Amino acid sequence: MKVEIIEPHGLCAGVNAAVAKALSLKNVYCLHELVHNEIVVDELKALGYRFVDSLEEVPEGERVVFSAHGVSPDVRRLAEKRSLKVVDTTCPFVAKVHRAAKAFAGKGLDVVVIGDGRHVEVKGIVGEVGKASVVGSAEEAEKLHLPGKTEIAVVSQTTFDAGEVGRILEVLRRRYRVVSTAEVCTASKDRQEAVRRFDGDALLVLGSANSSNTRRLCEVASCRTFRAGTMDEVRSLDLRGVERLGVTSGASTPERFFDEAVKFLRNVPRHVAIIMDGNGRWATERGKKRGEGHIAGAKKLDEVLGWCAERGIRYLTVYAFSTENWKRPREEVDGLMKLFARMLKSKTGDFVRNRVRFRMIGRRGDLSRSLLKEVERLEKLTASFEREFIAAISYGGRAEIIDAVNRVKGPVTEETFREYLYAPDVPDPDLVIRTSGELRVSNFLLWESAYSEYYFTDALWPDFSEAEFDRALESYARRNRRKGGV
Ligand code: IPE
Ligand code: IPE
Ligand code: MG
Repeated sequence: MKVEIIEPHGLCAGVNAAVAKALSLKNVYCLHELVHNEIVVDELKALGYRFVDSLEEVPEGERVVFSAHGVSPDVRRLAEKRSLKVVDTTCPFVAKVHRAAKAFAGKGLDVVVIGDGRHVEVKGIVGEVGKASVVGSAEEAEKLHLPGKTEIAVVSQTTFDAGEVGRILEVLRRRYRVVSTAEVCTASKDRQEAVRRFDGDALLVLGSANSSNTRRLCEVASCRTFRAGTMDEVRSLDLRGVERLGVTSGASTPERFFDEAVKFLRNVPRHVAIIMDGNGRWATERGKKRGEGHIAGAKKLDEVLGWCAERGIRYLTVYAFSTENWKRPREEVDGLMKLFARMLKSKTGDFVRNRVRFRMIGRRGDLSRSLLKEVERLEKLTASFEREFIAAISYGGRAEIIDAVNRVKGPVTEETFREYLYAPDVPDPDLVIRTSGELRVSNFLLWESAYSEYYFTDALWPDFSEAEFDRALESYARRNRRKGGV
């Protein structure tokens, strides 16, 4: 099963701000769920939040948080009457709808709210106007009965299905003169559109059952859909027969849950390291020079970078040149160094566009001044990016340990020793792949691969296929990494 992350997904700015504000408080009351997400609500409960359905339940003078969905003015008045200290996390987009509805009503217009009448957001908007009609479908819009009215004002629940809002407006425009600001918020619209574009055979929407925008994402999909709000629910999904699963999440779903769910679904290694071997033999088999094998190998690496991005692999380390490779004929070594410099130059745009951080591990002092300059330029340019591509050039596992030992001051532990390695912040490789049928480590990541899983394939590096890569990942996903435990 291929698991594809749908972008954009998840937390919108409004929810993000509401949650951040709420997390800074403890032992307070909150009117309704802050956002419709059980993970967030549980987290707040752990901070001593008490959730109430009415302000009557809040003792006078206490602090109360208004949820992101907004409240009607009578709730605000009641809070004032009871001398409650209000922390308002209403989403700015919802607040805008309130203002628009109020302005329309002020002009004497009948206000129609497109949305789900049971939803607290819609209740808040209706409260703003005093009296408003709510329609949730084109059929309801057909049946709307406003005796003697020719002109109406229309606003919308911010997370409604943008397509449905359009259809309802069409009906209303046919029947009335409509002034309208009815618009779904950009975050909801973008997430819905991304789901509509997805053409795989199933979609998993991560979010709670009571989250309106989450349910909406299920509704707009054109394939089979699943919904899960917790890891337990993710673990019990029956995904048999699904080949391409898209994963998205509602605007109130925490990203850490999304990451954990995707990780579980894929069991994808965070860090893959590859010993790219067999370029020379590939070339010789074809009657070409070894250098041509290296060029074909560089092209393959380009493809593999794309495969890693698609599968959410965060770190890719490749063994490009070992400390022992210097003993090869001068012509081959020179050709390789030139190839590295050319690649770094020509890949610069791709790295920036794809937000890939480039870094080198190995003995920098062995490189020519011009190659080192290229390396350092690209490292600096991409330093703030999240995904990482790490090239091992003039690298040896023993050299790395010796270089570290020579810098160590005083006694060390395994953890403090790590600080002296070439890339101490990079997690150890989960999976090491070696191509070309050789069953050895050849001095690669000796310290870091202590508990890595290995995958060997006979394919020569330029022939390494996406299917073979997936076989390696599948093999990895099935393994039980005990790491010395039971
Ligand atoms: C790996 O391919 C690339 C480098 C070491 C730079 P080889 O050059 O080792 O290819 P084979 O093993 O001789 O086929
Ligand atoms: C390991 O391959 C080094 C790289 C892939 C860069 P080698 O081809 O140099 O290793 P041996 O000689 O087969 O052990
Ligand atoms: Mg080799």
